[in-house]
Amino acid sequence: MSADGFSAAPPPGARADWTIDQGWDAYTAVEHGVWDTLYERQAALLPGRAADPFLKGLEALDLHRGGIPDFARINPELKRLTGWTVVAVPGLVPDDVFFDHLANRRFPAGQFIRKADQLDYLQEPDIFHDVFGHVPMLTDPTFADYMEAYGKGGQRALGLGQLHNLARLYWYTVEFGLIDTPAGTRIYGAGIVSSHAESIFALDDPSPNRLGFDLERVMRTPYRIDDFQQVYFVIPSLQALLDATLQDFAAIYRRLEAASDIPIAEILPADRVFTRGTQAYATSK
Ligand code: PHE
Ligand code: FE
Repeated sequence: MSADGFSAAPPPGARADWTIDQGWDAYTAVEHGVWDTLYERQAALLPGRAADPFLKGLEALDLHRGGIPDFARINPELKRLTGWTVVAVPGLVPDDVFFDHLANRRFPAGQFIRKADQLDYLQEPDIFHDVFGHVPMLTDPTFADYMEAYGKGGQRALGLGQLHNLARLYWYTVEFGLIDTPAGTRIYGAGIVSSHAESIFALDDPSPNRLGFDLERVMRTPYRIDDFQQVYFVIPSLQALLDATLQDFAAIYRRLEAASDIPIAEILPADRVFTRGTQAYATSK
């Protein structure tokens, strides 16, 4: 990706929009086995931890059937539910390409799967993170609308040179979001549900702060890309998240230009505190 977020040419073999064929028939038994290992571990852990729309999405797309999902099989149902489809890409795609897909209700998913010795850590999102982590939530109509709006907002932010603030919103919602429910705090972020260790840490560990979601506050908060998060933001509902993003962000971007970042572990007087974290995990590193 170029520094300004606009892409050069797609890699050899990819189409102009960076998509490739999934090539489902070419996955080996070992690769399907890696999916099954990861799947079974998360499926056992997530009831009572993941948000209902996520768990329902797994059912709706029949992801329990075993093996790496064939996009040709899940797309008709996903499309019927919310108008979304999954498309295969070789790996991370440039920002403008990513936003164009989201704005058109296409979720670009890495075609490859991690190796058996990388179950817990990988640098680039693979098909398990992208499909297990992201796609179930896309069966929820409200979340589906949010992701399309985010794609359009991303195109706009790119043009305004404001992507770094918007990227924090994605990070703290789509990737690492928590939601408040009558049954307790639940996970809806793809980066959490696709990670065994963080699915436990995000809800149970005394270290991180868990704070009420506030749009501008989130956009002022840096994040960790290399380790568990030091702060998670809890939305009251998916509808509240969508509603908060319907406003014109241009005014927010102007305010943010004058505002400072909030140190990652700081709790502000205005924050709604679900957990005042000890930060013991982060400080022990
Ligand atoms: N309303 C935002 C804007 O004016 C777009 C957006 C929607 C951004 C949803 C993120 C999520 O730019
Ligand atoms: Fe992701």
